[in-house]
Amino acid sequence: MFLNGCCRFLAICALIFPRTWCFLPNKQRVLLVSFDGFRWDYIYKFPTPSFHDVIKNGIHVEQITNVFITKTYPNHYTMVTGLYAENHGIVANEMYDPVLNETFSMNRMTIYNSEFWEDAYPIWITNQMQGHRSGAAMWPGTDVKIHGIFPTRYMPYNESVSFQERVAKLIEWFTSEEPINLGLLYWEEPDEMGHRLGPDNPLMKPVITEIDDLLNYLVLELKKAKLWDTTNVIITSDHGMAQSSTDRIIQLDQYVDRDLYRMIDHSPDVAILPKEGKLDDVYNALVQAHPNMTVYKKEAIPSRLHYSHSSRIQPILLVADEGWEILQNKSDPFELGNHGYDNALPDMHPIFLAHGPAFRKNISKKAMNSTDLYPLLCHLLGVDPLPSNGSLDNVKDLLASEVPKEPQDRSQQESFAYFIGVFLGSILVFVFLLVFIKHLTRSQVSAVRLQHTEIAQPLLQD
Ligand SMILES: *[C@@H]1O[C@H](CO)[C@@H](O)[C@H](O)[C@H]1NC(C)=O
Ligand SMILES: *[C@@H]1O[C@H](CO)[C@@H](O)[C@H](O)[C@H]1NC(C)=O
Ligand SMILES: *[C@@H]1O[C@H](CO)[C@@H](O)[C@H](O)[C@H]1NC(C)=O
Ligand SMILES: *[C@@H]1O[C@H](CO)[C@@H](O)[C@H](O)[C@H]1NC(C)=O
Ligand SMILES: *[C@@H]1O[C@H](CO)[C@@H](O)[C@H](O)[C@H]1NC(C)=O
Ligand SMILES: *[C@@H]1O[C@H](CO)[C@@H](O)[C@H](O)[C@H]1NC(C)=O
Ligand SMILES: *[C@@H]1O[C@H](CO)[C@@H](O)[C@H](O)[C@H]1NC(C)=O
Ligand SMILES: [Zn+2]
Repeated sequence: MFLNGCCRFLAICALIFPRTWCFLPNKQRVLLVSFDGFRWDYIYKFPTPSFHDVIKNGIHVEQITNVFITKTYPNHYTMVTGLYAENHGIVANEMYDPVLNETFSMNRMTIYNSEFWEDAYPIWITNQMQGHRSGAAMWPGTDVKIHGIFPTRYMPYNESVSFQERVAKLIEWFTSEEPINLGLLYWEEPDEMGHRLGPDNPLMKPVITEIDDLLNYLVLELKKAKLWDTTNVIITSDHGMAQSSTDRIIQLDQYVDRDLYRMIDHSPDVAILPKEGKLDDVYNALVQAHPNMTVYKKEAIPSRLHYSHSSRIQPILLVADEGWEILQNKSDPFELGNHGYDNALPDMHPIFLAHGPAFRKNISKKAMNSTDLYPLLCHLLGVDPLPSNGSLDNVKDLLASEVPKEPQDRSQQESFAYFIGVFLGSILVFVFLLVFIKHLTRSQVSAVRLQHTEIAQPLLQD
């Protein structure tokens, strides 16, 4: 009876205590920013004082190896899952799932079919399941209900919403009474202009200057909101950009009848779904067709690309050499800049810099895999990461200390939680003593009538 009651009491306490810890405030704030298509070396090619200011007071990684294919959706999902494309399931900007019998495409709004995203759990879900709040301004996938969950706060995707409006929303969410601890910010440039002009075009200078101004704006707004020094801000991108030319076009119609296959994903990685029974015909027609086009059957795609183990990867993959385009014929859309090529190519690599209480200052690191960003983000947020293809060990040298310093407000709130803990603990001890003394008194009374061993027995058995 006595121990039974105690067990029940302890069980109740156990219910109360984790709740106390659940209300623990956010360990550290994190803001992850992506400037789509910002190549790693734009900061050396063009004047970018705001980028260099952040670097001087934070960290800079020169070469980020992103994931194949070096396109927007696969790489944004890698950043928030730590998984290769074949593992997170977003294998292209345009893909076909033979099991779902559905095509994933921005143009057709089918990116909102949540099943495409559910091979993985992105960081905003993990963050929320572990008691925090996330906020997203246009980050790819954040307005899709993945595993039944939206980010705590998010903006439905709308290209026309200005950078300033996106920043304002995030700051509002970071400073609200129920603050987010994780913010995700996406901006479409310099990708769009990079495609249109080509990265070698001198007209890229004003485009990059404008991005530098936007970064400056972001820093100033965070400073105004007193967030800059207490938030870990990571500025990165999904991929770089390579110069194309009308002299470097491979036309598939010259080699194979377009009625024999369906073209799923487009240059420079062409995903080909041959018509029933036509796999070998299409493969044989293309395999030696052009010296600047590599043709793989799915099972022969090199393992270093981590691009085979998904039903959304088609039976044949064509990959162009850097600067080359694969079209069906010359009337297909063509742009002067493109990306998607082999992720070992430096021109495909994105920018990476960071600033904040968790990061060292004025430190440059040579190389990093983009899969390591996810474990780093989880560490900064104080949440347990899910299994991924990255490792925190690879990026620990970016951190000011292995146990990052907490911002001011945390220590205050933590001492509050500590006080509650001590308070509840004291009540527990007090009640325990009270019950114990009561029991002792009772047993002494009974001891007069009963044998000593008989009293001890229920205590041991319970
Ligand atoms: C796949 O969907 C299309 C329509 O989008 C339909 O015509 C076709 O029959 C479907 N195929 C299978 C195998 O269900
Ligand atoms: C997108 O944003 C623009 C600018 O804020 C606004 O005018 C427009 O109505 C929005 N479109 C949708 C579909 O919400
Ligand atoms: C294109 O192919 C030619 C012939 O094999 C080769 O010399 C050249 O390096 C290739 N171009 C690229 C960008 O790889
Ligand atoms: C390219 O293909 C389109 C669509 O099939 C066709 O209308 C056009 O005439 C072709 N152009 C050339 C230059 O072959
Ligand atoms: C940053 O580090 C470089 C050497 O790595 C040094 O020359 C420079 O003075 C440092 N700048 C600051 C602001 O500490
Ligand atoms: C990137 O990942 C590969 C494969 O896991 C590994 O061999 C390599 O050392 C990593 N690079 C860095 C810079 O951590
Ligand atoms: C990548 O991570 C996933 C999830 O842990 C795992 O299933 C897969 O085998 C990993 N890939 C490699 C090449 O290690
Ligand atoms: Zn992109």
